Amino acid sequence: MVEKGLSKQEILEKTKQTVGLYDVNFDVYEGETFVLMGLSGSGKSTLLRCLNRLISPTSGHILVDGDDIAGMNTEELRNIRRNKMTMVFQSFALLPHRTVIDNVAFGLEIQGVSKDERYSHAEEAINTVGLKGYEQSTTSELSGGMQQRVGLARALATDPDVLLMDEAFSALDPLIRAEMQDELVALQNKMKKTIVFVSHDLDEALKLGDRIAIMKDGYIAQIGTPEEILTSPADDYVSEFVAGVDRTKILTAENVMKRPEPVVSINSGLSVAIQLMKKHGISSIFVVDPDKILQGIILIDDVVTALKEKKKISDVLIADFPRVQLDTPLKEIIPVIAEIQFPLPVVEGTGKLRGIIVRGSVLGALAITEVEEYPETSEISTASNTIDENNIKAEEAGQ
Ligand SMILES: Nc1ncnc2c1ncn2[C@@H]1O[C@H](COP(=O)(O)OP(=O)(O)O)[C@@H](O)[C@H]1O
Ligand SMILES: [Mg+2]
Repeated sequence: MVEKGLSKQEILEKTKQTVGLYDVNFDVYEGETFVLMGLSGSGKSTLLRCLNRLISPTSGHILVDGDDIAGMNTEELRNIRRNKMTMVFQSFALLPHRTVIDNVAFGLEIQGVSKDERYSHAEEAINTVGLKGYEQSTTSELSGGMQQRVGLARALATDPDVLLMDEAFSALDPLIRAEMQDELVALQNKMKKTIVFVSHDLDEALKLGDRIAIMKDGYIAQIGTPEEILTSPADDYVSEFVAGVDRTKILTAENVMKRPEPVVSINSGLSVAIQLMKKHGISSIFVVDPDKILQGIILIDDVVTALKEKKKISDVLIADFPRVQLDTPLKEIIPVIAEIQFPLPVVEGTGKLRGIIVRGSVLGALAITEVEEYPETSEISTASNTIDENNIKAEEAGQ
């Protein structure tokens, strides 16, 4: 019936059966946090449970390192669940009368690992989630946030490649929840596990997800990075989801910058700088060294005066002014932009100039949903390479 184009609702009315998932296709990359997001009932849990076959799909394949989970027998499945893909549940599923360390070691106990070895792994996992000192407490004595840590430690103790987390933080108070999210991000930066995280909360999805799949009625409405979802929602359902989001927290310098053009080399003469500014109708220009490392900015008035005095670019260079990194959030950029008269340069860690931000492009990014594509580094360097004295002279000669 789905293949014939009937909606989930129509099928429910006709058959009293719910379409769990249909035509769901996606890859999860090694080491990424992949978030399944959508309204309650959209199929997130069903999809997650298909991944380790707590629910068996009617058809299709679920490949982990090339092995098809959909075709595995009970023994193979048990193996995969114990060693490769661990699930962290919303309800923690802890054993209330056992100690923290026994709860954390539980997965290893099932695997038949010796007591010494499972305690040493458990101890390590307890450290990782920040519960050192609570090893001998029973879990019923712990707060919700701490119980969630125990649940996470238990999943980590078996050192799985893949963590499946279903609304893992949804039962927590907002403050503790935000804290756990931050900790998961920090942990993940170190662990680099592959995580599939289910959430009905867009803010949580944006915070945790390297990529997000937005689900509706058992299908995937859109897959993309947080930036892609925010800046080009695939349909009205996704648009509605993202409408209330504070874009300034999500968008970064990289999303709003323009090509750093024109720029002038620190080794060029002042007349070259004047030429470039005249040609582009600008009153200031960024100065870079031969490796495109940003040196500073020069202003047309200074340059004109300096030319008469036979000075060099370095004599009028303003080196001390704000610059931001590629991943600086817009929220931090807006106050800077408001203060300065020039475009704001965007640099890489090394100081290499990657782009410039002008006020208009910030406003544009906040107002509209479509963000331009920006050129790759190679293109930028080609553009800057053309800016040297000889080229300008040749151009003049031609005119
Ligand atoms: N055990 C079940 N039996 C029948 N229908 C179910 C069962 N579990 C979930 N569903 C239905 O499947 C759909 C997807 O549910 P679920 O995957 O739990 O959604 P989500 O996790 O996104 O809230 C819903 O319409 C739900 O009512
Ligand atoms: Mg669910």
